[in-house]
Amino acid sequence: MCSFMLRQMMGATELAALVAAVREGAKYRHLDSGLVEAVAAAELAKGRSFKESVKATRNKLHQVAGAYLPDRPDYAKWLKVISQAANDDEQRAAYRQVMAYHASTRERLPFLDTFYSTILGDLPPVHSVLDLACGLNPLAAAWMPLAAGARYDACDIYQDQIGFLNHVFQQREQPGQAFIGNLLVDVPNQAADVALLLKTIPCLEQADKNIGARLLAQINAPVIVVSFPARSLGGRSKGMVQNYADHFADLVAGQPWQVNRFDFPTEMVFRLIR
Ligand SMILES: C[S@@+](CC[C@H](N)C(=O)[O-])C[C@H]1O[C@@H](n2cnc3c(N)ncnc32)[C@H](O)[C@@H]1O
Repeated sequence: MCSFMLRQMMGATELAALVAAVREGAKYRHLDSGLVEAVAAAELAKGRSFKESVKATRNKLHQVAGAYLPDRPDYAKWLKVISQAANDDEQRAAYRQVMAYHASTRERLPFLDTFYSTILGDLPPVHSVLDLACGLNPLAAAWMPLAAGARYDACDIYQDQIGFLNHVFQQREQPGQAFIGNLLVDVPNQAADVALLLKTIPCLEQADKNIGARLLAQINAPVIVVSFPARSLGGRSKGMVQNYADHFADLVAGQPWQVNRFDFPTEMVFRLIR
């Protein structure tokens, strides 16, 4: 066997060991294995020790995904909370209670009553939604002005979260499905009336600087709602809104798209009509 092949085999073994070590942590066990492997491979290439590579991979995965969720999301309990609701009001209260467990939906709760009606209210009837890097946002469908029987598809990178969302969809007889989708490697090509890409571009750009433009080019929807946080998870806001507004202007420069901007206390939203 030549030394190149031997080195490749040793690299593959070390990568597999690194992925396994990272996934031993409860927080990382349910993450899409392709994403863990890609982040681990990039960290391994930096030539650190094995232990440092485990730590660095976990840090990176925490930044892009883990930071938004509690350490041990109790999906069984959350499902129970939702299933015990006896009427529409109780169901909305239950959805709110559960959405509060994800930092991204939690921030939106104070203005949820007007968020989707402001952004989608003047559009022709919306029969399908594609929610990319959805977190717990599919629970907010009850606040969206959608056509009766509208389809809702959603993706994220946690297997347990996707399982939970599919249970909720079943419970409320929601057409559509939640599925595992790593946007860094694959942009779902299914068509939808509206695609949601909420507060996600900055996360993904930590791993791939070109992902924003690629997503906007490949998403198969005439309306895309893109948003950016107006402050960091730690609460800092200095310059963020202007920086993201400038960045978004670069992303859409030269495109013949209609852009509307909507500002909320913790979120800046752009609606693209193409
Ligand atoms: C800031 S949160 C936004 C969640 C949701 N869109 C919202 O606004 O409520 C970012 C989301 O991106 C997801 N995510 C991170 N990397 C991803 C990837 N490579 N592919 C798909 N989703 C990813 C995380 O799990 C997390 O749910």
